Amino acid sequence: PVIDTLAGRHQQEQALARQLGIAHCTLVPGDSSLPSGTLTGLAQATKRVLADQLPIGASTIAVMGGHTLAAVAAGLTPALSTQRQLLFVPARGGIGEAPEIQANAVSAQMAQRTNGQFRALYVPEQLNTATYKSLFAEPAIHDVLQLIAHSNVVIHGIGEASAMAKRRNMAPDVVADLNAAHAVGEAFGYFFDAAGHVVRKFPPIGLDIADLAAKPLVIAVAGGSEKGAAIQAYMHLAPAQTWLITDQGAADFVLKK
Ligand code: F6P
Repeated sequence: PVIDTLAGRHQQEQALARQLGIAHCTLVPGDSSLPSGTLTGLAQATKRVLADQLPIGASTIAVMGGHTLAAVAAGLTPALSTQRQLLFVPARGGIGEAPEIQANAVSAQMAQRTNGQFRALYVPEQLNTATYKSLFAEPAIHDVLQLIAHSNVVIHGIGEASAMAKRRNMAPDVVADLNAAHAVGEAFGYFFDAAGHVVRKFPPIGLDIADLAAKPLVIAVAGGSEKGAAIQAYMHLAPAQTWLITDQGAADFVLKK
């Protein structure tokens, strides 16, 4: 019966949140790592959580990139802007992704779908420190960095370490270092091991994991059995108010332990 299924899911959401040490989990059926899997369930669930949890009035929403976040963006609608003024900004700049899944593209798409506003952050990758410093002083960049720093909502993905290293075409010696350090996951440009120790950090600019503690609403969207270890590991670093939206494939990994 439907009631039993819903009650069971709710129990699993609570068990998952408890096990991961975070405030809330939303669980959707399926395993997005399977060839037949999709990101639609995660996207729809994220849309519902945003509709329920975004404050009335003005919000600045910092978003990360990735396929999951791109799917979330594609599923948003103008209804989210009822009684709200939404400004989307990329949470970080320049971490080496295909243009369509970069945080800039995701925030632009979210703004377009919700009739909101967005500001892009254009920063080239692999600059030296001095160049970064002078870029920060540029008004166009400085202004967007200020908006990111003052964002009240963050929506981000979590990736599996080797998949992310490959996707970003990291050099073989860097990949070897990540393997040697047993990196299992990646978020915000940080690679970490199963215990949540940061093993490598690629810090261009924007939000840092440490900045998340001060954000009232932090939503992590990641699912699939292949990401189970990465999701569990990231939650050692995550702020306690994190709201995880995940699927059964990832949840089974965490709850089986
Ligand atoms: O590269 C941006 C990013 O948000 C990473 O921090 C994260 O690991 C990854 O994308 C998730 O991507 P996907 O949703 O495609 O698995």
